[in-house]
Amino acid sequence: MFNTVGSPFLAIDQLRSLFPILTQQVHGNSLVYFDNAATTHKPRAVIRSAQDFYEQDNANIHRGVHGLATRSTIAVENTRTAVKKLIHAPEEDAVIFTSGTTESLNLIAATYGEMEIHEGDEILISEMEHHSNILPWQLLCKRKKAVLKALPIDKLGALDLTELAQWINKRTKIVALTYVSNTLGVINPIASIIAAAHAHGAIVVIDGAQAVAHFPIDVTSLNCDFFAFSAHKMYGLTGLGFLYGKSKWLKQMIPYQTGGGMVKKVTLQEVVYEELPYKFEAGTLPLASIISFNEAINLILAIGYPQLMAHEAALFQYAWTNLANIPAVQLIGNADHKVGIIAFNILGMHHLDVGLLLDTKGIAVRTGHCCTQPLMERLGIEGVIRISFGLYNTKSEIDFFLKILRGIVHKQAITS
Ligand SMILES: Cc1ncc(COP(=O)(O)O)c(C=O)c1O
Repeated sequence: MFNTVGSPFLAIDQLRSLFPILTQQVHGNSLVYFDNAATTHKPRAVIRSAQDFYEQDNANIHRGVHGLATRSTIAVENTRTAVKKLIHAPEEDAVIFTSGTTESLNLIAATYGEMEIHEGDEILISEMEHHSNILPWQLLCKRKKAVLKALPIDKLGALDLTELAQWINKRTKIVALTYVSNTLGVINPIASIIAAAHAHGAIVVIDGAQAVAHFPIDVTSLNCDFFAFSAHKMYGLTGLGFLYGKSKWLKQMIPYQTGGGMVKKVTLQEVVYEELPYKFEAGTLPLASIISFNEAINLILAIGYPQLMAHEAALFQYAWTNLANIPAVQLIGNADHKVGIIAFNILGMHHLDVGLLLDTKGIAVRTGHCCTQPLMERLGIEGVIRISFGLYNTKSEIDFFLKILRGIVHKQAITS
């Protein structure tokens, strides 16, 4: 079905035709969407599935006995099963629906963190974390008089693990790390960090927001304690995320949100919570997003991770090599293992100006701090221009982008 960049077959065109939004013009040019790390576009099957839900089944789940409620409940639980299989979770009840990676991480801080963190304890994150994986821990540490530490990055923009033994010690209770940096694209060697953390009795929380759309995940063999990710970054709708957690922790954790759907028994004085995973799913879930997410998973699996990875790797290599040949381009982060995310700046130009100029040609890139202000501070820059690829991007889109970028650089050189 899918061929890598430069293949004589044009299956990529068929694939692109599954995404209605890609056919549009922006400022008179075909849309070139290079902002997939922020959110991906949605295939027609996902959009239709959400529409079908509202046209045919719309009912709240786990509450009613009528036909619509039964169909909705089955469809939601089917997605839970599909997510469990996708990330190789050992049990279905270890997969919790949340509103996104952000909520998943906040949930852990507000439950496990509230229970287990005490004065003087340490929580270890890294200098490349997204704000979503900094702030819940920062605020928890303030509440508990605990200490927040951050693993440094080296000059290539990779985690500096040379002194890992100093960073993870007997006071470390939680290690919370991103699998993939949303700004630098670097894939972190989390397996070795998980082993080091466990050796000191710390649990490990993985922010997988930029991982699951790009390579296969096996939470069981990773042996992480928690794993968080979002549907909208992997071709699903917004408002939906996932939290995988080891049952032994989830069982002990007391819900931080309470309400309908998560209780067995309520009196005016007491509550008995539902079993996992429902005790963490208070209120009405984003049902259409959940049900339609099954189609996003189907698409990823139909393409296959090996093909998807080869495609994105080829796009990355092509873009990186060509950008490196433009003298005014300063590529940021030169680590070895990356997904299709590239951050750069143009000498003498503000990143926002470059973003706006690219937009005039229909090219969508991310500009700014990418929700990684501590990383920006560490790198001594204010922001970046970030391009990030999805499964529908093509080499010819990169060619167009490079042509426009060279024009911008040229104009800047002759006017300055
Ligand atoms: C690495 C990382 N973590 C967390 C998030 C937050 O994800 P969401 O906004 O879907 O909750 C993002 C979003 O860009 C991200 O890239």
